[in-house]
Amino acid sequence: MTIVGKVRCCNNAPMTTKAKILDGKALAGRMREDMRSEVAQLTEKHGRAPGLAVILVGDDPASHVYVRNKKIGCENVGFASFSHELPADTSQQHLLGLISELNQDPKIDGILVQLPVPDHINPETILEAIDPNKDVDGFHPYNIGRLVARKPALRSCTPYGCMKLLAETGRDLHGLECVIVGASNIVGRPMAMELLLAGATVTVCHRFTQNLQAHIERADVVVAAAGKQGLIQGEWIKLGAAVIDVGIHRRDDGTLTGDVAFESASKRAGWITPVPGGVGPMTITMLLANTVQAFKTHIGE
Ligand code: GUN
Repeated sequence: MTIVGKVRCCNNAPMTTKAKILDGKALAGRMREDMRSEVAQLTEKHGRAPGLAVILVGDDPASHVYVRNKKIGCENVGFASFSHELPADTSQQHLLGLISELNQDPKIDGILVQLPVPDHINPETILEAIDPNKDVDGFHPYNIGRLVARKPALRSCTPYGCMKLLAETGRDLHGLECVIVGASNIVGRPMAMELLLAGATVTVCHRFTQNLQAHIERADVVVAAAGKQGLIQGEWIKLGAAVIDVGIHRRDDGTLTGDVAFESASKRAGWITPVPGGVGPMTITMLLANTVQAFKTHIGE
């Protein structure tokens, strides 16, 4: 395997390099621009815009910010967005009733229930109640199963966005050693399936993994989704590796950072995503792309 970005000095010792930035904000902007014209054409042809319903239960401040950004994203590409903000004491039965109505509603192509939901609501029951054809988050077991079976339908947004960022490197993933840190249903597990589908050799590390450093040191691609600020030290990164940081954490000074120690990692990586401006904008963009896909399925295009 070629190590991209590796340089050697006179005694043949590897030196540090400066990673290329995988700019998710710029890529998301380009993708949304293309989507805007496609949505305008589809709207003209079918007499209505793609419709996305977003349900938020309770008053988690971070969820409110995410949902607001999703609504803005929808409106920017010309979707109709339908917001359902419900109080924290909403019953599971009431929420299931709303999902059932939205499943039947011909104006709605995508349904998203922002997670986490309050403790008295079972998230699996809720996610499984969404019509898989309207499951634009790609969380329904049907859509996860389609990805496992190598016939993806609606794909989980964050892993799908990470794949688009990796495509920007121009590297063929076949046979590369890819290490994912974090085994969540939302990111780590579907990410493993995406990378496997792309022909990579995949390792998923998690809280019981022994010697995380040894896994990272041999990785051509690192996807950090552990939810632990600065967990991945820059010195562990293999020279020339692609580093995708899904983590997002607020420092005491108010600035944002990820799961990877960015400054030191960018001296060794070939490519790296910044936080903010890397994975985050891509997650919302893939939600929008999934909504266009669901709309087309819905209208039979
Ligand atoms: N909470 C954190 N990330 C997500 C996401 O991608 N979708 C939903 N529905 N909830 C989330």
